[in-house]
Amino acid sequence: MGVKGDTHGFGRICVLGGGNLGQALVRGWVKCGGIDPKDITVTRRDCSKLKDLGSMGVTVTADNFAAVENADIVIIAVQPQQMSMLFSEIREVAESRPHTFISVVSGASLELVKEGLGLDKNCVVRAMPNTAVSVGEAVTCLTAHDTKALEEAERLFKCIGKTLQLAEEMITPATALSACGIAFFLRCIRAASQGGIEIGFHPEEALFLAAQTAKGAASLILEAGFHPEEGIDKVTTPRGCTIAGLNEMEHQGLSSAIIRGIVTSAEKAGDFTEE
Ligand SMILES: NC(=O)c1ccc[n+]([C@@H]2O[C@H](COP(=O)([O-])OP(=O)(O)OC[C@H]3O[C@@H](n4cnc5c(N)ncnc54)[C@H](OP(=O)(O)O)[C@@H]3O)[C@@H](O)[C@H]2O)c1
Repeated sequence: MGVKGDTHGFGRICVLGGGNLGQALVRGWVKCGGIDPKDITVTRRDCSKLKDLGSMGVTVTADNFAAVENADIVIIAVQPQQMSMLFSEIREVAESRPHTFISVVSGASLELVKEGLGLDKNCVVRAMPNTAVSVGEAVTCLTAHDTKALEEAERLFKCIGKTLQLAEEMITPATALSACGIAFFLRCIRAASQGGIEIGFHPEEALFLAAQTAKGAASLILEAGFHPEEGIDKVTTPRGCTIAGLNEMEHQGLSSAIIRGIVTSAEKAGDFTEE
């Protein structure tokens, strides 16, 4: 039994903004994190779009005020431009009792969230997860001024993947590399599967082979401790077919395209902070 009367020790969690990421977080916590759906509330203005979560036993509502009032941990998961409207709805209840606020909003600084909510005692953590939270395989970058709140958030996100504590100025770069990164790697897998179809595989076989190969390559780094080039050296025999394919990809700008894409993405992710 957790300290807050539940089995996991987080108390009640509410997710304000049940969109793509908000829903993925909830699915991950319920399916991979072992969190009881009865301990989770999700809000959005059109909560008819949250029926699936409702049928899992999660409380769904459009009432942000009541959701915050009853929660120990409050996840802010709306779009940056929707934040001020949300803050005006919950400001009055934000300090009604101890809540930990965790914002996943891209570009919104700790200070901006703290001021927007008018916080004095309660703490804010900034988190940058990715949509692999839904399958327990995310990486979430975290930052906060308060150590206790940071540790609590880290424990919560460790239920749905890996975590990395960073200085606040690194959260925007993390948005590009690991949050947007999901789309970049999905596109790489899609491209590999299209190549696979052209050389004779059925689409489902090609996608399976490409995705499992990508997962294997990631495991060589994360589990076996290989540096990527070390792993590449082991499959590139002189005059062989791997080096021929790899060099052709590089002639076409593979590494350069990925590096430039990540830099462009990071510049764009920083725009909101400047605005
Ligand atoms: N998607 C990702 O991979 C990802 C990764 C890391 C960080 N983020 C950040 O996470 C945030 C959400 O991203 P997303 O992709 O999930 O966006 P999204 O799909 O547009 O979700 C935002 C949700 O917020 C709801 N909403 C808007 N105003 C609200 C209010 N006043 N009260 C309650 N709910 C409200 C919207 O639903 P209604 O219109 O029905 O209210 C919408 O479903 C963004 O700030 C983004 O930068 C996203």
